[in-house]
Amino acid sequence: MEPPVLKHLLPAIILGFVTYPPEVPGLKNGLALTPPMGWLHWQRFMCQTDCKNYPTSCINDQLFMQMADIMVSNGWLKAGYKYLCIDDCWLAPQRDKNNRLQADPDRFPGGIKKLADYLHDRGLLFGIYQDVGTKTCAGYPGSQDFYELDAQTFADWGVDLLKFDGCNCGTLEELEDGYRRMSIALNRTGRNIVYSCEWPLYARRETQVNYTEVAEYCNSWRNFDDIADSWSSVKTIMDFTAAFQDRLVPAAGPGAWNDPDMLVIGNFGLSWNQQVTQMALWAIMAAPLLMSNDLRDISLESTALLQNQEVIAINQDPLGVQGYRLLMAESFELWEKPLDGGSLAISVTNRQEIGGPRYFPLLRAVLWKGLACDTCYVTQLLPTRFEYGYFNSSRALPLLVNPSGTVLLRLE
Ligand code: GLA
Repeated sequence: MEPPVLKHLLPAIILGFVTYPPEVPGLKNGLALTPPMGWLHWQRFMCQTDCKNYPTSCINDQLFMQMADIMVSNGWLKAGYKYLCIDDCWLAPQRDKNNRLQADPDRFPGGIKKLADYLHDRGLLFGIYQDVGTKTCAGYPGSQDFYELDAQTFADWGVDLLKFDGCNCGTLEELEDGYRRMSIALNRTGRNIVYSCEWPLYARRETQVNYTEVAEYCNSWRNFDDIADSWSSVKTIMDFTAAFQDRLVPAAGPGAWNDPDMLVIGNFGLSWNQQVTQMALWAIMAAPLLMSNDLRDISLESTALLQNQEVIAINQDPLGVQGYRLLMAESFELWEKPLDGGSLAISVTNRQEIGGPRYFPLLRAVLWKGLACDTCYVTQLLPTRFEYGYFNSSRALPLLVNPSGTVLLRLE
């Protein structure tokens, strides 16, 4: 039986098609041609330096070595999550006598190089954190005045990715100049180091961000507030991204990605349907997939969701086009992402947080006009896998979407 077609769905509110293919080629270091995937400690572990009271969750070498072991043994590396990244609070309070950065000696007794070697020996890549200003956001020594020295130190240690934060940096000119200088300094080391910036997030308060320029210097960049382990946080990030998609989407492409912040799947704050929504939307948004969770203690369901190869393939699609919100109607949102070879990923999220699952009648006519197939083969990837078969223009496809959940489809 056909579900009732929602009366007010059409004419849909078409929120604007974006330029395709992307206009900006991105940082020419040849890195991050698909969105970086890995693990980053911040959201889950923050700046816990009290190893006496929090022996298993403080920021020390043990935490990263344990996470590395699990990334290899539990299928994370195989699934594509290859960067293991430290965030803030790894540093000693002072630089050494030669002004070189040094790790906290109690929490990283072997130093950073030893930790990087441990990860490399297991086939992982190593990410580190610093800040463009005088101090990091948590108050540790920043890179200002030391960009070249710090870039060389990171290269000497075997760093493969730098997250460069934007706290404590004086004027907008200093901030922008610092981001440019660190980019150039990293390239000059000759080592392949993915450059993850927070330039637009800190610059947006003062000016219109020049995304063309940001994409010339950075492999990825944060635009919006830090993610928290909550549905309201995930929603505000989706809403921000959609509200500014006309500027954000054209800036993204191979080597240059908008970063809506970490995946919080597997923590405490999101229901199952909300976890599905984050995974589906981060895939559609071509976001870096950097998990921040405790891989030592994560459910089988969250693991399967994060390791879902068909969903990851949408995120990692070689065309590298960021998806966009195409329409909103009756508390549904439809996003689409053009894929390599004329395929298309579609997500439908039910933003009505009262009542039960509701039908969304997907009509061929509302989708991207360039969709190559007249009769498309439709596979639902989330929340469960299901093959709908062929889908032509004459009939609506009834998608049943849970409250705060998402149905993710691939059409080819
Ligand atoms: C800022 C960043 C976060 C995290 C913290 C660390 O808030 O946006 O992602 O790196 O600093 O202090």
